[in-house]
Amino acid sequence: MTRLIRATIDTAALRANLARIRAVAAGRRVVAVVKANGYGHGAVTVARALDAADAFGVARLEEGIELRAAGVARPILLLEGVVTREQLQAAAYHRFELVVHEPSQLALLEAWRGPQQFALWVKLDTGMHRLGFRPEECQAVFTRLGELVVPASQLRVMTHFACADERASPVTHEQITRFDAVVAAHGLETSLCNSAGIFGWPAAHGNWVRPGLSLYGVSPFAGESAASLGLAPVMTLATTVIATHRVARGECVGYGHVWRAPRDSRVAILAAGYADGVLRSLPGGSPVVILGRRAPLVGRVSMDMIAIDVTDLPDVEVGTSAELWGPTLPVEEVAAHAGTLAYELLCGITQRVERQTL
Ligand SMILES: Cc1ncc(COP(=O)(O)O)c(C=O)c1O
Repeated sequence: MTRLIRATIDTAALRANLARIRAVAAGRRVVAVVKANGYGHGAVTVARALDAADAFGVARLEEGIELRAAGVARPILLLEGVVTREQLQAAAYHRFELVVHEPSQLALLEAWRGPQQFALWVKLDTGMHRLGFRPEECQAVFTRLGELVVPASQLRVMTHFACADERASPVTHEQITRFDAVVAAHGLETSLCNSAGIFGWPAAHGNWVRPGLSLYGVSPFAGESAASLGLAPVMTLATTVIATHRVARGECVGYGHVWRAPRDSRVAILAAGYADGVLRSLPGGSPVVILGRRAPLVGRVSMDMIAIDVTDLPDVEVGTSAELWGPTLPVEEVAAHAGTLAYELLCGITQRVERQTL
């Protein structure tokens, strides 16, 4: 280990989470979502560990190309499809499957004269109002694409939920109803569920599920732990104490002097800051785990460092490791302190953080 801060990726936990998802959505095929560098875990690392997935989902063309360059041979689905003819050509070359959500994409596909056929996933907007065709437009879209897609089994239909993480929300019921009404007559394979859908809306499992967050061992539901869903955290973000010192009662620590020591204290400085992905919005009092115990952040997160009150942990010294999140400190909990979601913390890990694979 040469770098001070590292994200350790537990590939056994990744595989266990995929197995858990397969048990919950029994008999369904799985698009493992590895966009945004595998939610910060390393897309290639994740795809290699999850070679039992039926397909991989990425947002952008270049994310798919990275996987192919690393030798990933499984189907890869571009969740935003393509925008230009050049992208369509590249998608054909790399054998990517495409989400089609926009009339301009229909036109690109109809003008396509290459030898390759595409597997296409028509996206319905059932209420998210972000991407997709409205239900009333779908018949025409299926007809146009039905003429392009051979065999017909390569034409699928999908939607995305806006509120699936709210178990009591009526929105998901409404989205499922709209989706079912459109697809009933067509006999196409379906896909509706992200992680929250998989665990919260079993009636909507369809033929394919699309887990992201849950693969990484994170709960999609506020107030429900990953452990309670049978998921194990995959990433441990750990760093190193680079200094310790004493501050007298009444002295302040860090930018803006926002923390004043309420007693004579001992502070450890950790190599972790917003340039590593530790959000500056993480407030004083947020925990880290050091020598197996929780200790609070004091003062502001700076670019490269944070300060921790270790007055009650006399064994902490330069070189001691500290867990910023992981098995003993759920990333969901840290995200809640920062006023955000685990998604943002995981995706926000920067290049400076060393990745290690277990
Ligand atoms: C279309 C689509 N499907 C599936 C997912 C995976 O979602 P989650 O990480 O909540 O499981 C995403 C992620 O945003 C997505 O955009």
